[in-house]
Amino acid sequence: MSIPADTVVSQLQWRYAVKKFDSTKKIDAPTWQALEQALILSPSSYGLQPWRFLVVTAADVKSQMPALSWNQTQPQDCSHMVVFTARENLDAAYLDNYIAYTESSRGLAPGTLAGFRKMLASSVESMHSHFDWNCRQVYIALGQLMAAAAMVGVDSCPMEGISAEGYDKLLGLSGSGYRTVVGCALGYRDPSDAYASAKKVRFATEMVLQRV
Ligand SMILES: Cc1cc2nc3c(=O)[nH]c(=O)nc-3n(C[C@H](O)[C@H](O)[C@H](O)COP(=O)(O)O)c2cc1C
Repeated sequence: MSIPADTVVSQLQWRYAVKKFDSTKKIDAPTWQALEQALILSPSSYGLQPWRFLVVTAADVKSQMPALSWNQTQPQDCSHMVVFTARENLDAAYLDNYIAYTESSRGLAPGTLAGFRKMLASSVESMHSHFDWNCRQVYIALGQLMAAAAMVGVDSCPMEGISAEGYDKLLGLSGSGYRTVVGCALGYRDPSDAYASAKKVRFATEMVLQRV
């Protein structure tokens, strides 16, 4: 079953970066489960999934976030605040684990993917920064989450206006091998949020899209 094309467009028109969430409204469990799967199912280059997603619903943690987010209130008022973190590196142990996990997931004998492992290692070695590359993967998950949220009528706000270091500290990430990259607040818009009715500003199709 697929979503009608015009529904996809109307839901993407409906979504906007929410400035004020209704703090009384929470995302119900089945809807949240679907959004979690949107995160887990995100594609990544080579399938390496160099991320961890922290889902923050604890009020005492969320209440500390505006001070670490240029006083933006979305992390506190939203239902679920997702903090996207990226791995600092792609070391041999990570690659080994990924290969072993893939082999066992697909019922392959250990060592079957040795050639792929070798190719991965050489590709990873040529990267100028593992962390930068991993951040790029994280943004794919961010986009997928926001699009999925729009499809199920959940509001969101992507948030780079946060102190990554401050979030790392708050969430105890030091020494974990992962660092905060970006956040996404999810929940339901407050009726007082004037941005909901602001005209969407997007370049005309012909300005950004070329048909070849
Ligand atoms: C990576 C990223 C980071 C953003 N950070 C913030 C933010 O910290 N606070 C905020 O209110 N909006 C933030 N935005 C929202 C953008 O300003 C918004 O998406 C853009 O102006 C287009 O408007 P629309 O999403 O409402 O259509 C961010 C958007 C992206 C993609």
